Amino acid sequence: MARVFPNRMFREYVYLAGGARWPAKDLWDIFPELQRVRVTLECLPPCGIGTPLEDLLYLALITKVLAPRKIFEIGTFRGRSTLNFALNSPEHCVIYTLDLPPESKSAAAASAELTPADKKVIEESITGLDYRGSEVAHKIVQLYGDSRVFDFSPYYGQMDLVFVDALKHYTAVRHDTEEALKMVRPGGAVIWHAFANYGDYHDVTRAVLDCLPPREVVQIANTDLAIYVRAPAERPPDMRRVELSAGDYESTRAQTG
Ligand SMILES: C[S@@+](CC[C@H](N)C(=O)[O-])C[C@H]1O[C@@H](n2cnc3c(N)ncnc32)[C@H](O)[C@@H]1O
Repeated sequence: MARVFPNRMFREYVYLAGGARWPAKDLWDIFPELQRVRVTLECLPPCGIGTPLEDLLYLALITKVLAPRKIFEIGTFRGRSTLNFALNSPEHCVIYTLDLPPESKSAAAASAELTPADKKVIEESITGLDYRGSEVAHKIVQLYGDSRVFDFSPYYGQMDLVFVDALKHYTAVRHDTEEALKMVRPGGAVIWHAFANYGDYHDVTRAVLDCLPPREVVQIANTDLAIYVRAPAERPPDMRRVELSAGDYESTRAQTG
């Protein structure tokens, strides 16, 4: 609760301030075609850091509306979001999901550059536990590797939906975001978790915003989710644009929350 409340306040403040660097919109303003859509949510026991039910609902609705043929998730954890994608995508959809190889988790968790929150998540992660044995498990391809060095090139330009949800420090989010933007096809979407987060994950916002022109990333109002929808037939985003420095970000935060 201690961390949830400031986050909620932060998001509300950003929303009310209009967002100098990123807009916050209701899901229905982003996807007006979202009418009378039904989704499937599986109720699983709580597991510490599990993605909030409301975020799973939004991810399920977006999955329904995009009807993806291919999804790439960076950061499986127990596979709750992976299962959610599998339950709400068309039968022929393939969901690729990447997490650290089990044998390298202890070494990864001991790495000095990780935040305490990231270390805890890695230690608690039992990759794929939540989707194993489900009737949609055949749609899921579990990949193992460290996203910071993983070769994403075979997936470039092919993904209808990419979900970025692994390490949350600046360098890792920036790298994962750049790869996500290369993987998403025109007309597809990239979604980030832990965006506009006030607490341990505050780096996510700055890293994502540094990869795209202003106001192309949209926070889904009252959630931890942000989305970028690549226009059909659009050229890849220009990543050479001027970057925000940490100082700029602080002043942005001062203006917007
Ligand atoms: C926040 S959890 C993912 C939650 C999951 N998407 C869900 O909603 O249920 C982050 C996951 O990223 C994994 N991870 C951490 N560092 C990673 C890295 N360098 N490469 C790939 N996965 C990583 C962790 O092991 C953890 O399982």
